[in-house]
Amino acid sequence: MIINKKIVLLGYMGSGKSTIAKLLSKKLDLMNVDLDNYIEKKENKSIGNIFKISGELYFRRIENKYLKDLLDSDNYKIISIGGGTPCYSDNIELITERKCIIFYLRANVDTLADRLFSEKDKRPLISRIKFKKDLKTFISKHLFERNHFYLKSNFVIDVDKKTENEISNECINLLS
Ligand code: S3P
Repeated sequence: MIINKKIVLLGYMGSGKSTIAKLLSKKLDLMNVDLDNYIEKKENKSIGNIFKISGELYFRRIENKYLKDLLDSDNYKIISIGGGTPCYSDNIELITERKCIIFYLRANVDTLADRLFSEKDKRPLISRIKFKKDLKTFISKHLFERNHFYLKSNFVIDVDKKTENEISNECINLLS
């Protein structure tokens, strides 16, 4: 299969973007990159520390800058972006203008809360939430605000109760 366009995976934190990007990279033999990992390498700090030391506004600024780098790079064909990336600055326009193939990995609130509760310490936006019911409320509101941006995708893939293999195959089938 020849794919000329870049593939972008978006979705809420915990929706499996970077895992599916890796799997797609293997199956399609295309290089992948995760925007958060790229930012951490470039800044030599974890995302948590960038938020702590320099604040979210700084993070959003560099997120925009590094997204441009990746979209303009010929090296990477599959890009997984952060849960907030499409919702800030002109990021979603940058992606759509370049005619990338955008997949929204859509998970429901229960799936997301289950996955995120155990690893919330790594994620600055939810690290202070103590109880799962509060996390669910937070995610519901947040998804409501972000949905508008997520739905600019070309394809919506429902990921609940599906294996990584099934999800990646679903994406590949939509490419052909
Ligand atoms: C964020 C999601 C994170 C990371 C940062 C902010 C968000 O990425 O970019 O913590 O605003 O939803 P993941 O979606 O990869 O966890």
